Amino acid sequence: MCPYELLNLYTLALNTLDFKCAVVTGGGGGLGRAMADELLMKGKDHPEVDCLINNAGIQRPLDVNDSSLEEAYQEIDINIRGPMHLTIDLLPHFKSKPSATIMNAISLVGYIPFSVINLVYNGTKAWAHFWSMNLRTQLAKEQGSKNIKVVKIVPLRIAIHLHGGRKDPNDNKENNSDALLVDKLMSFVTKGWLENQDTIGAGMDIDIADRWHGAFGEEYAEAERE
Ligand SMILES: NC(=O)c1ccc[n+]([C@@H]2O[C@H](COP(=O)([O-])OP(=O)(O)OC[C@H]3O[C@@H](n4cnc5c(N)ncnc54)[C@H](OP(=O)(O)O)[C@@H]3O)[C@@H](O)[C@H]2O)c1
Repeated sequence: MCPYELLNLYTLALNTLDFKCAVVTGGGGGLGRAMADELLMKGKDHPEVDCLINNAGIQRPLDVNDSSLEEAYQEIDINIRGPMHLTIDLLPHFKSKPSATIMNAISLVGYIPFSVINLVYNGTKAWAHFWSMNLRTQLAKEQGSKNIKVVKIVPLRIAIHLHGGRKDPNDNKENNSDALLVDKLMSFVTKGWLENQDTIGAGMDIDIADRWHGAFGEEYAEAERE
């Protein structure tokens, strides 16, 4: 059994889609809107929340030689403090449910900080990656929270407007052949939900996530057992 599979043991019994009602942050556009639409199509008859999708995120390029930190603070608030507070505040409620799911939007740059102009963003996504791993481990260790599944979503360069703050905001849109249209991405997300994948993504992003876990998964699994 590879170390990555060992990590997954904690959550094998929990089905990602075993929830009745989801809160999707950033559901007004982009991937959040697409996920909310998909879940609405599946029916959301029950008023009680048992799923949190921390999707809202912003990206603001930062030039360390010439910049105000205001936008960086906003990025930290939305990408880190928001999901952390929502998660912590909803945990007591989620523990009372038969099962619950927390999904966090990560990014390729949370594994490798490729996007040099977005040094704060890269850090917030690295935080989301590590936070998700530690959250999953802590919840799985306590009897009262084993019912909560943690899923990472690693979107691949979606062709929408996350890059609005860049000099060329269109580098992520339909005119970039590397970009993946949001409905194409959703086919990977839906597949990941149905297959109960712990880390959901497509192409290069999921490849790098797998390589990261291949390189460091065993060491992390050791820390999990301590
Ligand atoms: N696009 C990519 O290539 C890519 C790659 C890797 C990871 N991701 C991550 O995937 C997630 C979704 O990205 P996306 O590309 O779908 O972004 P997007 O197209 O910019 O959509 C983000 C949505 O979040 C909303 N939002 C932003 N700040 C918010 C706040 N404080 N409260 C409530 N809603 C807020 C936005 O609302 P407004 O429209 O009103 O601003 C928008 O509806 C993000 O976490 C992002 O970091 C994206």
